[in-house]
Amino acid sequence: MQVLVTGGAGFIGSNLAKKLLEKGYTVRVLDNLQSGFATNLAPYPEVEFVHGDVRDKEAVDAAVNGCEVVFHLAASVGNKRSIDFPVDDAEINVIGTLRILEAARKHGVRKVVASSSAGIFGELKTLPIREDHPVEPDSPYGASKLCEEKQCLVYAKLYGFESVCLRYFNVYGPNQRFDAYGNVIPIFMFQILQNEKLTIFGDGEQTRDFVNVRDVVQANIRAAEAHGVSGAFNIGSGTRISINGLVEKMKTTTGISTDIVYGPPRQGDVRDSLADISAARAALGFVPAVCLDEGLAEYTQWATQQL
Ligand SMILES: NC(=O)c1ccc[n+]([C@@H]2O[C@H](COP(=O)([O-])OP(=O)(O)OC[C@H]3O[C@@H](n4cnc5c(N)ncnc54)[C@H](O)[C@@H]3O)[C@@H](O)[C@H]2O)c1
Repeated sequence: MQVLVTGGAGFIGSNLAKKLLEKGYTVRVLDNLQSGFATNLAPYPEVEFVHGDVRDKEAVDAAVNGCEVVFHLAASVGNKRSIDFPVDDAEINVIGTLRILEAARKHGVRKVVASSSAGIFGELKTLPIREDHPVEPDSPYGASKLCEEKQCLVYAKLYGFESVCLRYFNVYGPNQRFDAYGNVIPIFMFQILQNEKLTIFGDGEQTRDFVNVRDVVQANIRAAEAHGVSGAFNIGSGTRISINGLVEKMKTTTGISTDIVYGPPRQGDVRDSLADISAARAALGFVPAVCLDEGLAEYTQWATQQL
């Protein structure tokens, strides 16, 4: 079966492309390499790589043509980046998604599986977070991801194809690089491995639900294979840990002890996060399989090889 992975040169997309190949899918990737890396796909020459932008109507049209399923991951990612570049965020995440949906409608795609984010919820009101938790994003990124979801679900209603939006919590794993807009695990991992001081924003007692990329890949494939299912689902581990607790685990996993400094809380960051994943379990059969200890050990190995 021919499928398209937009953003397939990125962290999650490249892990998804790898698994799809293993499962016998024919994989095309559309990516403009804004935050992705051609090297992520270098081990998989079977992947058809299209260097293009999701905002480009012709490029999207050609990439979607002939695909039964579109996994839409291409995005401007992250709260801080969206605060710095709000217009880029909206153009890529909102207009880019509409381009994908228009092409999906035109070419008779059976299913669009879109990558959404727990960022749509904003500050936590109830714990754990269920799908019907109020959506009050704290950043342009959360707002654009919410709009992306709504557009996917509107298109499913209007045009009869299936659309599943997966609201990832904090994803981590191999191919996740250190950068200024990165998540906390890659930032801390590369700092620990290089014996640099860690900066924790706030008191470190804020909590996060860290989900391994292999589980996120599982959710995408289950969503594609679940016939007759549309809707938005939380994808997390269903467990949470404080940032202080995470650092302790990372010190144990790497065997390296590093100094920590505490800075002021960051704008756009929520205090707590924990996914209720029962809806994804019921509708998609999603069950996380990788615990944090196992995932951190695997990530340590990958990160060490990058230095
Ligand atoms: N990593 C997380 O914790 C997390 C959490 C919630 C949601 N998500 C979502 O998962 C998806 C994948 O994120 P990721 O963590 O792999 O990030 P990433 O930055 O590694 O991947 C995004 C990919 O999209 C590509 N891209 C960006 N703009 C593009 C454009 N205009 N046209 C074509 N390609 C473009 C980038 O080059 C990159 O390869 C995103 O939709 C993101 O919003 C990620």
